[in-house]
Amino acid sequence: MCGIIGIASSKPVSINIINSLKKLEYRGYDSAGIATLKDQLINERKCSGRVDELEKILLKSPSDGNIGIGHVRWATHGIPNLINAHPHSSENVSVVHNGIIENSDELKKILEDKGSKFKSQTDTEVITLLITEALKNMEPLDAVFKTLKDLKGSFALGIIFKDFPDIIIGARRGSPLAVGYSSNENYLGSDSYALKSMTNKISYLDDGETCVLTKNSISFFDVKKNKINKKVHIVSDDENISDKGNYKNFMSKEIFEQPITAKKCVNEYIDSLKKDINILNFPIRPKELKKIVLVGCGTAYHSCLVAKYWFEELSSIEVEIDIASEFRYRKIKFDPKNLYIFVSQSGETADTAAALDICKKNKVKTCSVVNVIESTIARNSDWVLPIHAGPEIGVASTKAFLGQLIVLYILCLKISSVRGDINKSNYNKNIENLKKLPDAIKKTLTLETNIQLMAKEFLNARGSMFLGRGSSFPIALEGALKLKELSYLHAEGYPAGEMKHGPLALIEEGLPVIVIAPKDKYFEKTLSNMQEVIARGGKIFFITDNKKDSISENIRFGLRVPHLDNFLSSILLAVPLQMLAYHVALLKNCDIDKPRNLAKSVTVE
Ligand code: F6R
Repeated sequence: MCGIIGIASSKPVSINIINSLKKLEYRGYDSAGIATLKDQLINERKCSGRVDELEKILLKSPSDGNIGIGHVRWATHGIPNLINAHPHSSENVSVVHNGIIENSDELKKILEDKGSKFKSQTDTEVITLLITEALKNMEPLDAVFKTLKDLKGSFALGIIFKDFPDIIIGARRGSPLAVGYSSNENYLGSDSYALKSMTNKISYLDDGETCVLTKNSISFFDVKKNKINKKVHIVSDDENISDKGNYKNFMSKEIFEQPITAKKCVNEYIDSLKKDINILNFPIRPKELKKIVLVGCGTAYHSCLVAKYWFEELSSIEVEIDIASEFRYRKIKFDPKNLYIFVSQSGETADTAAALDICKKNKVKTCSVVNVIESTIARNSDWVLPIHAGPEIGVASTKAFLGQLIVLYILCLKISSVRGDINKSNYNKNIENLKKLPDAIKKTLTLETNIQLMAKEFLNARGSMFLGRGSSFPIALEGALKLKELSYLHAEGYPAGEMKHGPLALIEEGLPVIVIAPKDKYFEKTLSNMQEVIARGGKIFFITDNKKDSISENIRFGLRVPHLDNFLSSILLAVPLQMLAYHVALLKNCDIDKPRNLAKSVTVE
């Protein structure tokens, strides 16, 4: 993961580097650092904490210079501490790195045998020392190219040179890298979001490419060091990106933005006049589609799981789902009649991007469901279905999950209708219900006061279980994921019918068990499974869209979300679970927007 930034300017750059690093903290927040060049000296400032800490250090001990690089770290090689914080500098070179150098041990040994001394436990330092060695008899660009040939793994790099004070070199292999253009100032960054306050003119490096920036010029090179031209994109302006407004943190803002997310997404895809879904340009005609393969990680994978139930219920099409880190290593029989759909909020998740690349190599049609339309996954896929959620800053995905579900549901409706799997009247009814979704989410959010009370019951718990059947099973998985990542309380999601095959042994007096039971074909079955838990002392938290009287006495806490239809209930039932995780974490004083050990964009394998 990690975020990198570089600025070449005609004025001091450290303040802008700090501001950009604050935007990149979603990529990692284990440590932060900056290196600037002035009077032929590399000046480093680093801290083992967050960018706010680094800013304080810079206030006390400013680091001037019109050229500089910065980094926020998500630790891979070496514990998160000051020594391992980037940039990693020698006397001549300073490097920031996002990614992993897989052969770093081997390279370290070679360098040590030649007399190099390492200060940190990072893989990055080998890059610094290899470039330093190469610079003894080469120009910077040649030294970087020579070093790149030795490196195995995936990375994005930003490099400055003591003796060449006007240039920053950037290189990409695997991990994303963007450059930004302005007058008398040019930029390098892990994404366009970090550069947005300075420019909206962006080019993206492709794999194997390298760039050289000065304040007045940017040159690009392909893997063979031939000069190349790159397309300049004008990136969109997103309103309120980094403004928490009156909310305590981004996550609560993003939870409460969900009615707007739903409205925006529904408006983008539903043509109210024609009463139709305006999804066009299918890369394979829906009637000719043999199978849909849905791939994602974490929360995005859960949205694929929910969609599988929808496709199976509504359409005649076969559906397969997989976790991207598994998919990329499976021996898959690719079929040109299948559509391979990649779901990702960031569009930068390394495993998902690699799974997409494998599909491209096998010449099958790909689609991405993404939030960031300028992202690698969006740019590399044949067909993009944006979720229109706007920037999601909180590490735990909330409104993007909602957006993914809505887009997948809309796609499912459209494909089912074109294939003639659902009749016009059901299609229209489903579209009408979708239009009611934003208001139903609004009503669901009014459950917050009850959820705050419910959250207190989790404070002394040793663990928890989330149970559901059908499409409520992935919602249970998502509820458990949200609770564990935010509150660090152990939580497991299970299909309710599977409990008696093992997990029932975990039930003990007072264990919180969240039962997700909408009034669908599984309702009675789920109630029976719930009784098995009650009989063993589990403390039940029951979430339904059924009538109030289905919340019985044996239940510790009951919540009821509005009922629209059996498909949209999955979306509505996810909302109280997000709020539950949020409030448990708040009571436990956890860092809501930046849970420990995590990062928003997972750009390592
Ligand atoms: C959990 C969460 C993660 C992401 C996963 C994939 O709240 O956000 O599980 O869903 O890392 O990320 P994207 O969607 O960016 O590919």
